[in-house]
Amino acid sequence: MADQKMKERRRVSLMIMVLIFQVLSASLHGCLAATGQGQPPRKPTSIHPRAGVRSSVFLPVSGNVYPLGYYSVTIGIGNPPKPFQLDIDTGSDLTWVQCDAPCTGCTLRRDQLYNPSKNNFVDCKDPICLAVNSPNPPQCKNPNEKCCFQVQYADHGSVLGFIVLDTFPLRLVNGTLSKPNLAFGCGHRLQNRGLHPPTPTARVLGLGKSKASISSQLSSMGVTKNVFGHCLGDNRGFLFFGADFVPKSGMTWTRMLQSSSYKHYSSGPAELLFSGKPTGIKGVNVIFDTGST
Ligand SMILES: *[C@@H]1O[C@H](CO)[C@@H](O)[C@H](O)[C@H]1NC(C)=O
Repeated sequence: MADQKMKERRRVSLMIMVLIFQVLSASLHGCLAATGQGQPPRKPTSIHPRAGVRSSVFLPVSGNVYPLGYYSVTIGIGNPPKPFQLDIDTGSDLTWVQCDAPCTGCTLRRDQLYNPSKNNFVDCKDPICLAVNSPNPPQCKNPNEKCCFQVQYADHGSVLGFIVLDTFPLRLVNGTLSKPNLAFGCGHRLQNRGLHPPTPTARVLGLGKSKASISSQLSSMGVTKNVFGHCLGDNRGFLFFGADFVPKSGMTWTRMLQSSSYKHYSSGPAELLFSGKPTGIKGVNVIFDTGST
């Protein structure tokens, strides 16, 4: 029975393609999201960028709902870049990696951790520090202090650390290598209590709504448009930043709630159907959270 449920869930996950759009235009009421309906997503190999700007980044995704329970991409950070496998999480704003500051509770080997250097700390007066810690202001005694963060996860314990800036070399689809300096968390005190063991990744790629998320930073720096999309398959799939890979057809669009009182991407109340049949779940707020299978 449990196996059957898992299998069904997996099939459903294969048929879901979620695209989340942040359109920074007041006239459009902001965010939009779309889900493919009834049709399997196109394979990554059949997705081609549209002609035009081609200022997008395309990354392969691995992972599955079962048995792994997470999806990840590998991104290089630093110069020379060191690879970090990160859980893609639209339910989190802050990107962070396990960090040798030194670390307690890290699950990676020491040589796999991120090494912060003295000159890449973000201080308390940096606007990104406020964005990271919103709505609670950072606990800084003086504006030149290191900006700290703490995140409590619903299912994975918590992390404490500080914010750093470093290069994320990203290959744009037109071939140009972009090297934006992005802010992210150096997590050095991890508590892995929770419902399941921590994922074996370096940790989280935050794709949430706030200005601190990677998608928002890439757009505010003019690297890619404020659009991202992903297709989650069974150990295959893709994640893109920028507008070049948005399919022209086969999409259904829905409006996203814009209010800042919603921390997550949400389309408001919805009903959940399974194979077209009611599940009894309706009228509840739906959030789009890839960090939760
Ligand atoms: C690729 O796109 C970026 C951003 O639009 C631009 O700066 C760069 O010159 C482009 N490169 C090529 C080879 O067209």
